[in-house]
Amino acid sequence: MVASQQTKTKESVNSAIVIGAGIVGVCSAWHLQRRGYSVVVIDRELPGNATSWGNAGLIKRLPPSPFPRRLAKRASIVANSRNDTRYTVSGMMEYYYPLFLYWWYSRPSIFSRIVKEYATLAEHCTQEHNIMAKAAKCEHLLQRTGFFEMFRSKPMQLIRESVMGQQNEGQAVELVTPEELTRREPSANASLFTGGYFFTDAWLATDPGELVKAYANHFVSVGGTIIRATVKSITPRSDGSGSGYIVTTNNGSFEAPLVVVAAGPWSNEVLRPLGYQFPLYALRGYNTHFRLAGDAQLHHTIVDVDYGYTLGPMHQGIRINTGGEMASITSPQNEIQLKAAESAARQLIPLEGPISKTWAGYRPCTSDMKPIIGESPHHPGLWMCFGHGSNGLTLGPVSGRLLAELIAGETPFIDARPFSATRF
Ligand SMILES: Cc1cc2nc3c(=O)[nH]c(=O)nc-3n(C[C@H](O)[C@H](O)[C@H](O)COP(=O)(O)OP(=O)(O)OC[C@H]3O[C@@H](n4cnc5c(N)ncnc54)[C@H](O)[C@@H]3O)c2cc1C
Ligand SMILES: *[C@@H]1O[C@H](CO)[C@@H](O)[C@H](O)[C@H]1NC(C)=O
Ligand SMILES: *[C@@H]1O[C@H](CO)[C@@H](O)[C@H](O)[C@H]1NC(C)=O
Ligand SMILES: *[C@@H]1O[C@H](CO)[C@@H](O)[C@H](O)[C@H]1NC(C)=O
Ligand SMILES: *[C@@H]1O[C@H](CO)[C@@H](O)[C@H](O)[C@H]1NC(C)=O
Repeated sequence: MVASQQTKTKESVNSAIVIGAGIVGVCSAWHLQRRGYSVVVIDRELPGNATSWGNAGLIKRLPPSPFPRRLAKRASIVANSRNDTRYTVSGMMEYYYPLFLYWWYSRPSIFSRIVKEYATLAEHCTQEHNIMAKAAKCEHLLQRTGFFEMFRSKPMQLIRESVMGQQNEGQAVELVTPEELTRREPSANASLFTGGYFFTDAWLATDPGELVKAYANHFVSVGGTIIRATVKSITPRSDGSGSGYIVTTNNGSFEAPLVVVAAGPWSNEVLRPLGYQFPLYALRGYNTHFRLAGDAQLHHTIVDVDYGYTLGPMHQGIRINTGGEMASITSPQNEIQLKAAESAARQLIPLEGPISKTWAGYRPCTSDMKPIIGESPHHPGLWMCFGHGSNGLTLGPVSGRLLAELIAGETPFIDARPFSATRF
């Protein structure tokens, strides 16, 4: 009795190592620490300094995008003539299989189920950010402003029908005419657009990297530990002490019965030595920042859909984010999409700059457009939380909570089965 109690209260039984201090790893660690675990987060960079730093900052309830199935569209993607997705030879070769699966999971019958499952996570996004931001006293980093998605050629009638369809699905969206855009954003050149949508319940993190750092600081203030080191390997403990893992880094080894892999687009790399290869591909995106010229103002993010970029009022300036580039993580950067976005944006609002160097990040996409949240199939105590694609900033707090509830053996607040690590 006494002995077993001692074992239970020994710190190591309730300790966990989280690999990755992006939005997903930090939220996972935060939720575990709150449930009484003693958590060490390991990252080779500062919290929030990788993919989670340079994204568009939108916290939104939009569904994932299917692989474009219409032949015409596909042909234009392959010919690289679209500005929202650009495919490269290196990317197509490296990600041949996950892309094939992506196409497979995009069949309308399957995709409609995926959209429903994805929504069970996304519907909690602002509420879960709110809880963390209140605790971390960083609510000023979240603006509850909504954002625009505008079309240059889609006929108004189709936009109107689509708004009604989305409203029927429960989406908080309003129809936007060019006049309405002018009323809300007087500096924007509304004559470029036939019309668009306004997503009223979306939030904007004006500095996503700072948001992750604020959540991470709060995690440390309640007893969590963050270590800067590069993870080299995860090995099951074989010293007879039972289950658990040794995480070896370039600066020492760490042991715990629980390990969470939240390494974003590098998760397969971290897991490969254990024999895992999830259908994950990296969709590169770029950003750069500008100043508004004269007395121009921008209050909301605008997505210029036909040109595939996002323009938003961020802490560092007016941030342009490009769409996806299907390229190997190690392939050289190519600014073609960023240049196209810049010239389109200059028609939209008067810009000076750029005032920052080009940044690139990698959306950690899964073939079935849903994150992977759950225990690994073959290694008890090894947990996965990655694959958040274009929505990691949105979903980080929701996924972190779900993961921590599963680890702690609580009844999860949403059905976790659609996100299980054993589904592939
Ligand atoms: C251009 C662009 C725009 C986007 N816009 C939005 C948006 O508006 N809204 C939204 O919700 N999402 C958006 N996203 C997606 C979002 O940025 C990602 O889904 C999210 O940042 C992923 O978070 P993460 O914690 O999984 O990964 P990361 O932030 O990349 O964190 C993973 C961490 O693991 C660490 N790591 C990896 N390997 C090792 C190792 N071996 N040892 C130690 N540490 C390691 C890395 O250093 C990194 O810090 C956008 C993405 C891009 C690229
Ligand atoms: C983190 O990112 C910011 C912004 O890119 C940069 O200024 C800072 O030097 C980075 N820090 C580290 C340690 O990489
Ligand atoms: C290794 O870690 C220790 C403490 O954990 C730290 O003081 C030291 O600076 C680290 N060294 C390197 C090279 O990162
Ligand atoms: C892509 O951007 C370029 C340059 O801004 C533009 O000329 C072209 O029409 C755009 N392509 C599409 C399909 O929108
Ligand atoms: C606004 O857009 C129109 C095209 O609709 C273009 O002719 C005009 O030059 C743009 N105005 C500015 C200031 O860029």
